[in-house]
Amino acid sequence: MKRREVLKSIALSGATFSFADFSKASTPSAPARSFFSIDDNNIRFSHSKIQKPFSVTFIADTHLYLDDTRGLSYDVYSKRMSKAYNNTKHFKTGRDLNPNIAFEEILKIAGENKSSLVALIGDIFSFPSEAAIGWVLEKLRYSAIPYVYTAGNHDWHYEGMEGPSALLRDTWINKRLLPLYQDRNPLMQKLDLYGVQIIIIDNSTYEITDEQLDFFRNCINSKKPSVLMLHIPLYVPGRSLGFGCGHPDWNAKNDKNYQLEQRQPWRENGHTLTTMEFHKMVFNSKNLMGILAGHIHNQSIDIVNGIPQIVAEANAEGGFLQIDFMPTLPASTTL
Ligand SMILES: [Fe+2]
Repeated sequence: MKRREVLKSIALSGATFSFADFSKASTPSAPARSFFSIDDNNIRFSHSKIQKPFSVTFIADTHLYLDDTRGLSYDVYSKRMSKAYNNTKHFKTGRDLNPNIAFEEILKIAGENKSSLVALIGDIFSFPSEAAIGWVLEKLRYSAIPYVYTAGNHDWHYEGMEGPSALLRDTWINKRLLPLYQDRNPLMQKLDLYGVQIIIIDNSTYEITDEQLDFFRNCINSKKPSVLMLHIPLYVPGRSLGFGCGHPDWNAKNDKNYQLEQRQPWRENGHTLTTMEFHKMVFNSKNLMGILAGHIHNQSIDIVNGIPQIVAEANAEGGFLQIDFMPTLPASTTL
């Protein structure tokens, strides 16, 4: 059985993991505990500090390609990606699908599940098309579910446009994507929902800035039960270069796609020290219940130092994660 199939079979059969909550226990004899479990695409996090049950719908990699006359002068830059996901198949049922239908279907499910938040975690767009961004804003407004958005490596990328990725990201966030952030900082955000701190970091350039590292450190020092959402998953031993944030082999020499994607190659000498420090800090974070990411387009789970990292199947092919948060009863009652 291939690695992916093994992981899928684990996910499909359902699995439960528990791990100690390293925050100060209320009494020395009854330490609070956290639990994590997964059935297919339904994830449950439980923690004694969660105030009430609530759900979050996680969407990544919709790859909307919708465009109109406003995009005509950018055709040369959007040519390849405007055809990449026009017609998709549902990853489970094989039925015909496309990104617009997939996105609308999951928003409907989020409404039916009474999700408290829709988390849009990158590559919602295949390029920063005004038409597609306007369409998403309209659908979100209609759904009336609170949402949070962060960019993936495609959301701000017009293939062949010159410049370093961090600069292009800033340019297209400011020119097109800004309304999606609802006045939040595009590169680092946090939301407090019923006792859970949801930390969202933009790592769509594969790198972490000094400011983001400080931001994450402050979030974690708050000792609140937290989850981290980012588009590109964090490196885990044995995983591909796609798990490219903190991967020791991520560098210009190993960048096979820069010509196809018409962008600058990855950094000559690999990741910055800040990115590596971030990676280390995340997997040593106490009170971090889990990491949720996209980018790879296949659902997977890795557990590192007791912290699960779950990657969502691409929304373009019908994928999403339904994340349920629930309070844990005091340890003496449950164990
Ligand atoms: Fe993607």
